[in-house]
Amino acid sequence: MAGKIAIVGSNMVDLITYTDRMPLPGETIEAPRFEMGCGGKGANQAIAAARLGADVMMVTKVGDDIFADNTIRNFENSGIDTRFVDRVPGTSSGVAPIFVDASGENCILIVKGANAELSPADVDRAADALKECDLILMQLEVPLETVYHTVAFGAKHGIKTLVNPAPAPVDLDSSKIEKATFLVPNQTELATISGMEVNSLADAEAAARSLIARGVKTVIVTLGGDGALLIDGDNDAVHVDPVSVKPVDTTGAGDAFIGSFARYYVESHDVKAALNMAVRYAADSITRPGTQKSYASVEEFEKFCAAL
Ligand code: RIB
Ligand code: NA
Repeated sequence: MAGKIAIVGSNMVDLITYTDRMPLPGETIEAPRFEMGCGGKGANQAIAAARLGADVMMVTKVGDDIFADNTIRNFENSGIDTRFVDRVPGTSSGVAPIFVDASGENCILIVKGANAELSPADVDRAADALKECDLILMQLEVPLETVYHTVAFGAKHGIKTLVNPAPAPVDLDSSKIEKATFLVPNQTELATISGMEVNSLADAEAAARSLIARGVKTVIVTLGGDGALLIDGDNDAVHVDPVSVKPVDTTGAGDAFIGSFARYYVESHDVKAALNMAVRYAADSITRPGTQKSYASVEEFEKFCAAL
């Protein structure tokens, strides 16, 4: 398959508690089920793309604990290039305690651990390998300066970049990500970055256009159960229709969307077609519990699409 994808981003261990309802402050309640799995936005996007057959390389940092081996093994089992997965002595791996309620809604706490150590120098060390990639994916669970550096690196070397500004940034300098090829926020993240209110499709388009006016080439707004919105230059906005499914666990659905978008985009360079696949892949993932665990293989995904 044509096209190699790199991720300069995070990995976490997801500690997921399934509960009938969220506890209130000061309250102790009993929950029926717990699961541990590999997560982190960067790793999730890498695994989604790899599971669909993409050639994927990961630039990330793990800690000095039992979680690190598990994370590296997980990448290797998915055929991901781990030459630039580094261990940080004396530091914990990133972890994410997650609560999922009966409606499939979640609350997430993240502890960045080793992810906070991923630096511009780590990106430079991977420079030769990154230059062989067609698309570099980034999220905001690593230092912002590393994201800025990677966007500039991509712009300088003509490598396409995608920034997923998640979790919603408080102190992002948007002038430093304007050279990204794709910016992929959800509605909350879009509101934070643009400084505009986003309560409707029209708001989302206006906010996205304000970012395009600042230099971003293409904005893709993920709309959860409402699909996605593509705003590309002066072209009319395109609303990518959702597919409706019964949600079981929405954790990592945004990452499933981005990883699968990347995989189809590097193959066809057709943004709309890739978005249609991404909406489907993300929808399929929410029908199963877990984060990466819920990402379909090529065969499973073909079955899901055939049944729509
Ligand atoms: O986007 C979902 C991810 O966010 C989870 O896997 C968790 O690790 C947090 O980083
Ligand atoms: Na899921």
